[in-house]
Parts: sequence; C-alpha cells; structure tokens
Amino acid sequence: MTTLREYLDGTKCDKDLKDLIELIAKQADPIRGAFITNQKYVDSKNIYGETQMELDKWSNERLKKVLGESGLIKELASEEEDDVVKFPSARGNYAVTMDPLDGSSLIQVNLCVGTIIGIYDNGKVMQAGKNMRAAMYILYGPMTILTLTVKEGVHIFALNEKKEYVMLIKDLKVPEGNLYASGAIKKEWLPKHRAFIDYLENAGYKLRYSGSFVADVHQILKYGGMFSYPAFAGHEKGKLRLLFEANPLGFIMTQAGGRISDGARDILSITPEKVDHRVPIYIGSKTVIDKAEQMLK
Ligand code: F6P
Ligand code: MN
Repeated sequence: MTTLREYLDGTKCDKDLKDLIELIAKQADPIRGAFITNQKYVDSKNIYGETQMELDKWSNERLKKVLGESGLIKELASEEEDDVVKFPSARGNYAVTMDPLDGSSLIQVNLCVGTIIGIYDNGKVMQAGKNMRAAMYILYGPMTILTLTVKEGVHIFALNEKKEYVMLIKDLKVPEGNLYASGAIKKEWLPKHRAFIDYLENAGYKLRYSGSFVADVHQILKYGGMFSYPAFAGHEKGKLRLLFEANPLGFIMTQAGGRISDGARDILSITPEKVDHRVPIYIGSKTVIDKAEQMLK
C-alpha cells in the first residue's frame, strides 16, 4: 500500500511542503490521544494532575507549537487565535490556516470531529482560497483518516496500527448523490434558502446533518449532494469562517470535481476582509451547487 510519504515523493511538492504536510498529519495521534487524557468536561484536572484546556484550545496550542518550531511557515491563522500569528525568522515560506478541532462539541458524545488545514506557498494567509497550494483535513472517526490535495487529485489515507498513513482511496471524485444538510434554525432560514431546501426534499434528497462541518462535508465528498450553512435572519454572513473552514474544504471539493459557493459566487474567489470573515456556504456536487446559485440569485 502507498504510504503518505511515498505518495508525496511522486508529486511536484518540494521538500518543505512534503515535510509540512507530514508534520501536520503526525499531530493526529497526540490530538486523538488528548481526547482521553484531557477531558476537561469530565474533571478540572487531567489524569496527570495538570490543569486542562478545552480540547480545541489544546489542539491549537499543539499545532501552533510544532508549526512554529518547524521553521517552515511565515504565518498561521487559526480559528482559536484573534490575529494572524507570525514567524518572521522562519526559513520556509509557507503559510497555514487551520481549524484545529472542528465540531469539538461532538467529542463529548463521541461523534466525528476533525482538523482542517489550508496551505499557501507565499508566506501569507490573507488571500483568496483559489491561491492555495494544498489543503487537507484529518477526521477522527472510527478510523483516523487524512484527505489531501496538492492540486494533483484528492486522495484519502488512513492511519494504520503502525502509525503510518496508507492510501485508502486514490483520486476521489464527488458523485452526484442525493444527500443534503443545512445548518441554522429552520424558522430563521431566508425565503430563497427555504425554497431551495424544499426543492431538494421534493427531488428526493435525504437529510444528513451531524453538527461537525468537516464530517458532514466528508460525507458529501464521498456520497454526493450538498452541505449548506446558509445566511439566516440577523446573520446575513452565516456562521462558518472563510479562512479556516470554507476555503480548505472548498478547495478539496473543487479538486474532486465539486464546487463551493456563497449562493452567488465561487467562495474560493473571495479576498478575506478580516481573519474571522464569515460566509454563507453551499458545498458539494457541481450540479446541485449550480442549482443553488440559480435559485438563490
Ligand atoms: O465550527 C463550527 C461548527 O461546529 C461546525 O463544525 C458545524 O457545522 C457547525 O458549527 C454546527 O453549528 P450548529 O450547532 O448551529 O448546527
Ligand atoms: Mn469549526
């Protein structure tokens, strides 16, 4: 079976990018381990007597530390940081956006959560998603898997018992499918979004919504259909964030033949106005996102 490094060695990635991807992928093990050793919700101290952080903060600190020490990145933008973190003395010229632990409220109920990563190659994070050099997410589910694109297709790797990533699915393409998910409270949906969801339901689409963006989008990537977190009453920009959530998963979906839109335009073309820029999201199979844009116009 092809390992992650073997796969990367066959791509156009330079050594720094390969090392960066592997370094992030390696953090799956300690992050997953912290689910048990750092259960803040169970007690205020962990089994080692240390004061505990929320797991999303813990994952943020862990990733920030290893990325900073690597010397590979000039900038880091994280959902858990108010500002861009800079590493001016870094040797490398990559930049990373991350949601260290997306869907973290689901850990307490043992549902699927994940780490979402976007990688740029010109040292800057505040730019349109289409400029990304690579994107990936780690899903902590029954298996620990890594979905990766370096603009040479989308591939899924699984962490085996030797703590090695081996390729599970090569060159994944999103099928048409018939699943849908929509966030926000139904009575707060805006009329055009409601009409679009009615259209999907009448067309036989089936609801699948877990409350973890990365897990819900992973399901759509594999089975096809659409995930939305729309604009809703009083929240015209929706809930999810452009840099950390929309862009990396949109980049992967697009590389797999699908699309991501805010209802009017390709999200990957949006230049971020601020680190926590929010955006309404429609992501999934191409024809259903085309239809969303047509109905939301
Ligand atoms: O990171 C935000 C997030 O947890 C996403 O993973 C998820 O899609 C969404 O919020 C769930 O929001 P809600 O609780 O409103 O359904
Ligand atoms: Mn999130």
